[in-house]
Amino acid sequence: MFGGKSDGMTERVTPRRRRGSYGIDAPLAPIFLAGLVIFYFVLAIMTGKGRFWVGGSMVLAFEAYYLHGTLRGKFLVWAKLLDRLELGGEERILDLGCGRGAVLLMAAQHMTATAGRAVGVDLWRWGDQSGNSADATQRNAVAEGVADRVEVLTGDMTALPFEDNSFDVIVSNFAIHNISGRGGREKAISEAVRVLRPGGRVRIVDVRGTGHYAAQLAKLGMDDVGRSGLGWWFWPARLVMATKPRGGDAKN
Ligand SMILES: C[S@@+](CC[C@H](N)C(=O)[O-])C[C@H]1O[C@@H](n2cnc3c(N)ncnc32)[C@H](O)[C@@H]1O
Repeated sequence: MFGGKSDGMTERVTPRRRRGSYGIDAPLAPIFLAGLVIFYFVLAIMTGKGRFWVGGSMVLAFEAYYLHGTLRGKFLVWAKLLDRLELGGEERILDLGCGRGAVLLMAAQHMTATAGRAVGVDLWRWGDQSGNSADATQRNAVAEGVADRVEVLTGDMTALPFEDNSFDVIVSNFAIHNISGRGGREKAISEAVRVLRPGGRVRIVDVRGTGHYAAQLAKLGMDDVGRSGLGWWFWPARLVMATKPRGGDAKN
């Protein structure tokens, strides 16, 4: 049922140049890594031992890899994922844990101002993304030229403030793992299923817990549940996808 392979996202995609300002995911992580690099290099200078240069260089390389993922990699990956959805422009898309709008606003660029809507919900936790706020996301929507088709709400993805069957597509990037407790993450998945219309699609990218999300989606009766890698530039993130059955067989 679940594919374990990379989904071959090696094709080159050039997303539209971003005009907003999107912050850094989990900003304490790169701050901690930078401290570790300095610590190793100071030790290397003080002791003259080569292994501290090697250790510091490895942490520095990991820091560069981390920053690439948050500043550039996720835009490349989602440009491809959104293109593959082949949206008509009249859909209602919901982004769970939208933060400053990295995915939300790219999705909005696939919508038409008259009919399509990209809706983002978030609790704006600073520890999960630097400069996180509804205002920052709205400013980015203006900068990207999509403010007329974007709605930003303060809300918890474990208790979504929407009616059943109200979205065509649900997306989420690096967000669900931030919910503490397995039960909370399961609730977020069942809320996603609840607000998705029959025939609607789910695309979740996350750094951990994706096997659990896929199992939960399958347990809730979703069709075409799959899980795949996203290429070495985006390790250890995985994509989870699913479709809500048209016959109303999904449970939530
Ligand atoms: C790492 S950030 C990713 C933001 C955005 N998806 C992106 O890719 O730039 C995770 C986001 O999830 C949000 N978040 C965490 N727990 C949440 C919850 N229970 N409900 C809604 N949002 C939540 C955080 O506030 C944060 O904006």
